[in-house]
Amino acid sequence: GDAYKGDYAHFTLKEIYEQPETILKAGEKTTEAIEKTADYLKHSKNIYITGSGTSYNSALIAKQMLSKYAKIKVEPIMSSELQFSPDSIEENSILIAISQSGESADVLEAVKIAKKANCKIISIVNLLTSSLAREADVVIGMNCGPEIGVAATKSFTAQLVIIYKIVEKLNNSEIKINFDKISESVSKTLDKPIRIQIVAQKLKNISDIYVLGRGVHYPIAIEAALKLKELTYIHAEGIPGGELKHGPLALMDESVFVLIINPNDSTYSDTLTSAREIKARGAKIIGISDVESDVYDYWIEISKVEESMYPISEIIPIQLLSYYAALEKDTDPDYPRNLAKSVTVK
Ligand code: G6P
Repeated sequence: GDAYKGDYAHFTLKEIYEQPETILKAGEKTTEAIEKTADYLKHSKNIYITGSGTSYNSALIAKQMLSKYAKIKVEPIMSSELQFSPDSIEENSILIAISQSGESADVLEAVKIAKKANCKIISIVNLLTSSLAREADVVIGMNCGPEIGVAATKSFTAQLVIIYKIVEKLNNSEIKINFDKISESVSKTLDKPIRIQIVAQKLKNISDIYVLGRGVHYPIAIEAALKLKELTYIHAEGIPGGELKHGPLALMDESVFVLIINPNDSTYSDTLTSAREIKARGAKIIGISDVESDVYDYWIEISKVEESMYPISEIIPIQLLSYYAALEKDTDPDYPRNLAKSVTVK
């Protein structure tokens, strides 16, 4: 009901604005489950990670983070695809299943297959009473409160926080995450939505938008494209920066907008080069970065944070942009057409 929206026009907006708090709360009271998870991951040869929609995009980030900061290899498999290659699951492995609702049919099916192969199930869920939580050997709660908007927002950043906590546990020293700092940087973005609202107006009549990123920013580009699709119905696609010349460059012209995810890390200069190549074809460039550049037609500033934390800080303005573009297009941001919050049938 309306009561729960408080002063916000939509649940989605409220949930976006809750993130400075939910980032801090995610993974609170889960120390034991995180320790158990770290222990399982250290002692297993094969580790798979699965989910649907946004939760699968978190799995893609987890793969990169675990590999980079904990030297642990995990294989992401989309839940809906796992059913078609059950043989790819080695006996006695670990399956990490990520699901906000814990009720997605595809995820539950993936878990069933893994259990048949004698795998241990580690779940990352928001609803602790869900089917997935019941099926799992280890349950890690996202602790971000009910999420009503169909497009996942605060549950995504909560999932990332939990992944960081697992990484931190495994890695011991190299990475020490300052969640207060990241929460602060998220607040900063949320406090100044004006620029984002101006860019949202420009998206009103476009039919294609691309999101480009390299390394860990590529899965964020995929998640960004998903948010734009769900909320605005604009055709949106994530592009891994280096692949531009292998196809997507053919699509660039004056009618196209491209979001460039370009924080000041090791991907920065290559991604800036990509932005220039795209701009030369007449497309409009929206830069998400802590560094300003003349290549951006519109610059959306994020705060400088520790390198591993950029994924959280860069998805926030994109969630807001998708929301405000939905308002421009007069679509319903909370309940996009044809979609459901959790898909409980196959
Ligand atoms: C549906 C929702 C998405 C969500 C996906 C997975 O498609 O519309 O927003 O990411 O399900 O949901 P889950 O509850 O398993 O994370």
